[in-house]
Amino acid sequence: MKIRILLALVILLIGMNDVFARNCGTMEHLEQLKANDPTIELRMQQMEEHTNKFLQNSGQQKAGTVISIPVVVHVIYKTSAQNVSDAQIQSQLDVLNEDFRRTNSDANNKWSQAADTEIEFCLATVDPNGNATSGITRKYTSKTSWGTDDKMKYASSGGVDAWPTSDYLNLWVCNLSNSILGYAQFPNTGVAATDGVVVLTSAFGRGGSASAPFNQGRTATHEVGHWLNLRHIWGDGACGQDDFVSDTPTSDAANYGCATGHTSCSSTDMVENYMDYSDDACMNLFTSGQKSRMRALFASGGARASLASSGGCGSAGGGGNTGGGCSDNVVNLTITLDQYGSETTWSLKDDNGSTVASGGPYTDNQSGTQKTESFCLPNGCYDFTINDAYGDGICCGYGNGSYNLTNDGSSVASGASFGSSETKNFCLGSTAPPAPTC
Ligand code: ARG
Ligand code: ZN
Ligand code: CA
Repeated sequence: MKIRILLALVILLIGMNDVFARNCGTMEHLEQLKANDPTIELRMQQMEEHTNKFLQNSGQQKAGTVISIPVVVHVIYKTSAQNVSDAQIQSQLDVLNEDFRRTNSDANNKWSQAADTEIEFCLATVDPNGNATSGITRKYTSKTSWGTDDKMKYASSGGVDAWPTSDYLNLWVCNLSNSILGYAQFPNTGVAATDGVVVLTSAFGRGGSASAPFNQGRTATHEVGHWLNLRHIWGDGACGQDDFVSDTPTSDAANYGCATGHTSCSSTDMVENYMDYSDDACMNLFTSGQKSRMRALFASGGARASLASSGGCGSAGGGGNTGGGCSDNVVNLTITLDQYGSETTWSLKDDNGSTVASGGPYTDNQSGTQKTESFCLPNGCYDFTINDAYGDGICCGYGNGSYNLTNDGSSVASGASFGSSETKNFCLGSTAPPAPTC
């Protein structure tokens, strides 16, 4: 009799654990989106066609190129424990990088299709206004918990607005209700304002405030997988239902805990895959097929292509329209002043002769001081003109002044000694160079 009660209790406990992990935030969120917008189904089909085309034509076209995605973490907290530390946030970035680059310490050779996705993540260093940032926003809320209705993504409903989703992966950390560990928005589904991933505070990062068995940062790995178009490894259905990835074994249902060796659909389930529902400690791989599926999004025409050229992890400048918002060419100007900064002015003009930016005069007696500016410029050709009101340039009578404009680390225009003024032309992007002047 007693044994039976004990057995019932054990079964009940196992059952509860199931309920805890089974809540699939992401699929539930998708169903909500679909109910409001019948075109989502069609758009997802089109994305599937794009993926297939990518796989046929250029399969690994982008392989060998590491893609780095700027991330902004929005911490929404009620208790101080929910206001996760910078270190905890860094640990989550570390886990994402290890898992996606396959430098995780638990990587092993059990599945030969395990892959380094060549996708990385960086905490944003430039905000949407071009200013320096820690890549972290923090907001107190009196709300105890949030649902999968995206309220945490809008300041108007007590949350935090997304940074431009074409340049940043937005990651909201907050207390979710209904035992949901996290949820993500698939590419091309909901509106841009809600694009990103949400992770439960106690399943966020490695160690610290994260609690077992979801304390190794793998909820974010799983959710970012969805954000990059990966489906659950069992295809959210029976054996016939696919995850659209050919090198993941078919499976009929989620696995929980660490069901190593479990078989379904006549093959061993890949319970170690980040897209199963195993505990964090049990997961350790993405496959090569999942890698291709994710990377197809970054090819031309892909839903996440703009992220690959985001300036969100570049260096901040004073240009205003630079940095995170820049999906064009970031050009940095450095002017080293001579003794008479008050004589120096400059302008940057586009093809049509319109002034894009200008600066100076500066103050005198700052010889050697560097003035920096950063611009976000569309493809095209530009004229940079520097003037010296006295007519003796910025070098080398009264100090060693100079100027230099760089794009992607290489100089596009530079100079030092000139008379009253000098103009240098440079072109950005695939635009043909200007006709030579004779
Ligand atoms: N259930 C969640 C979802 O479907 C996340 C599962 C994360 N699993 C983990 N071991 N951390 O989006
Ligand atoms: Zn999921
Ligand atoms: Ca499969």
